[in-house]
Amino acid sequence: MPASISLSGKTAVVTGASSGIGRAIAERLGAAGAHVVLSGRSSAPMEASAKKIEAAGGSAKVVPMDVRDIPALQSLVADALADKGRLDIMVNNAGLSYPGAIADAEPEHWRDMLEVNVLALLVGCQAAIRAMRECKAEGHIVNISSIAALRRDSGVYGATKHAVNCITNTLRQELEDDTIRMVNIMPGAIATNFARNFDPAFLKGLGAMAGVTDFEPVQGEKMPDEILEKIQPLMQQVLSTPEDVAEAVAYAVSAPINVNVSEVVVRPGKSMDFSI
Ligand SMILES: NC(=O)c1ccc[n+]([C@@H]2O[C@H](COP(=O)([O-])OP(=O)(O)OC[C@H]3O[C@@H](n4cnc5c(N)ncnc54)[C@H](OP(=O)(O)O)[C@@H]3O)[C@@H](O)[C@H]2O)c1
Repeated sequence: MPASISLSGKTAVVTGASSGIGRAIAERLGAAGAHVVLSGRSSAPMEASAKKIEAAGGSAKVVPMDVRDIPALQSLVADALADKGRLDIMVNNAGLSYPGAIADAEPEHWRDMLEVNVLALLVGCQAAIRAMRECKAEGHIVNISSIAALRRDSGVYGATKHAVNCITNTLRQELEDDTIRMVNIMPGAIATNFARNFDPAFLKGLGAMAGVTDFEPVQGEKMPDEILEKIQPLMQQVLSTPEDVAEAVAYAVSAPINVNVSEVVVRPGKSMDFSI
């Protein structure tokens, strides 16, 4: 890990910071010296991350909220600016997937993916632009997309990530004359709670491949950290880790304003197609 990255004096907001990639990003930015505002629906893991950041000498604030609540999301960003007088980094990470055939799907699951993966990301981008302009920041807005956006047939989830790429590229052009840089991160497969809506039999099989047999996944429910932590190292050839993505984010947001690390694809050493 390059210890040289310093984000001291900067303020960062991370959505979906209660689990997986968002949690790793929040902790990495905090370790680099940024004041981090962690947002998600589950308080306990965010409180634990905030404690970790503070124990290492950093500073953090936890704001439990649902990103589908547009005024709450706007306030999250405005309050971060009001608290510290600045907003330098906005990470739109909250996201979810309901895999499966379009013909058999629940429209409410499409609504959830569209509201969280696309609408909330747009609202987060807009609120961050306004805050960064107000404090004249040399800012970075990081959107967490997916390698699903690189495929033409990646389902409704993939369609939301195609939208993320389109929004990010459009904003990059819109903001060329501002001191705000857009960063699009496209992770490959990572063992996180992202898989909570996947078929439990598939997850059990994946666990078994990794040698984890004491695992009874329940569809829609988060998996215990201990199980994810067991699976990650056992499958490191075919899965990246949340920390790999966090490192890419730390690198991109520490670039000087005249350098735009515009897109990063983070893959494991060996490709395995989980259709995500
Ligand atoms: N894991 C992968 O293989 C992979 C690959 C490519 C891209 N991605 C992308 O990476 C991002 C993070 O996913 P992850 O893998 O870290 O999954 P995860 O462990 O399930 O984390 C998702 C985060 O999003 C939050 N979230 C979901 N719905 C929300 C809502 N309505 N309001 C507020 N927060 C909400 C969750 O918070 P709560 O659970 O507390 O509500 C959680 O903190 C997503 O955008 C995903 O599409 C993941």
